[in-house]
Amino acid sequence: MAIPQSYTDSKTYMHDCLQFLNDYQWIYNYPNTHILVNKIFEKIPLDWVEYFNKFNTNDFNSLALGIVNENAPLSLKQFLRKLDNLKPKFELKTLPENISFTFPKNISIGIKKKHEILCLSSVVDRICRDKDVKSVLDVGCGLGYLPHLINEKFHFKVIGVEGDEKKVRLAEEYQKKYYPHSIENVSYLHNYITKDSLDTLINLGLDNFCITGLHACADLSITILKLFLKITSAKCLVIMPCCYHRLTINSIEDGLETFLNFPCSDILKRVAENFKIETFLRRPFLRLAAQQSCESWKELDHNAHDIHAKNCLFRAILQEIAEEG
Ligand SMILES: C[S@@+](CC[C@H](N)C(=O)[O-])C[C@H]1O[C@@H](n2cnc3c(N)ncnc32)[C@H](O)[C@@H]1O
Repeated sequence: MAIPQSYTDSKTYMHDCLQFLNDYQWIYNYPNTHILVNKIFEKIPLDWVEYFNKFNTNDFNSLALGIVNENAPLSLKQFLRKLDNLKPKFELKTLPENISFTFPKNISIGIKKKHEILCLSSVVDRICRDKDVKSVLDVGCGLGYLPHLINEKFHFKVIGVEGDEKKVRLAEEYQKKYYPHSIENVSYLHNYITKDSLDTLINLGLDNFCITGLHACADLSITILKLFLKITSAKCLVIMPCCYHRLTINSIEDGLETFLNFPCSDILKRVAENFKIETFLRRPFLRLAAQQSCESWKELDHNAHDIHAKNCLFRAILQEIAEEG
């Protein structure tokens, strides 16, 4: 794991993350819809409120990037400093110059999705060439955008596995309409992958292959990580998980939540024994990983903040009224 430079071992890093999440759980441990029900405003330290009250839009946008001025309360500065120390290292890679792809006209794939498909497929290509692998299994392939790009641009044979039958049909229609020549090299299988899918995946008959997945929702990413370790012909895995808050719940009682597949890391499991994680590593925490980045705030103008604030608070008011009956 890419732990920050100030840490030498993952155990200490994970301990400090849990301590931070435990200490500041009032910020994230409830759905936004419940900020009034759970009286979150009363939990904001008073000196923070006083400081925020003097904010203009610029100050607010800078705060999202972790920037405050000299007059900020000490406890707010400490919060931001701790947060900064825990930020993992990301390796930022630019796309190779030659990486571009003409998607079929008239299909409604957003810019973000196109970017993700392009980036992921170029990583798949690099890793497959490294491992001398010729075919790819795309788990949770949806409508098959990634399989076609991997096939058209990088010439790998691809099998897409998808648990939703309707999507498999749509993927096949998409193929017939836009990539009829790919029938030999791109195929789909309707199958909902579970921990018992080992034989199904082995019986696909792929030799030395790569497993990939884009937005492999919730448990699917964990399931495939575990299966990957058992499939000897699978030589590499390039997975991009998402929707962590939809991980299967193990138990839910009196506001305590545990999950079937989280924590996944053995180190985190051991460190977590020193905390009551079922009280704060709940679904609102798991949602954090799929939030927009702080960067998305920095360009917002006064109007945009106003609309955002009203949407958030009006919804919270409705929740408060509903809870009070
Ligand atoms: C967020 S979508 C991503 C689709 C596609 N990879 C993309 O990026 O366009 C996740 C897909 O995974 C499928 N899926 C989720 N769990 C699955 C499972 N256990 N086995 C097979 N497919 C699954 C869903 O039906 C859905 O189509």
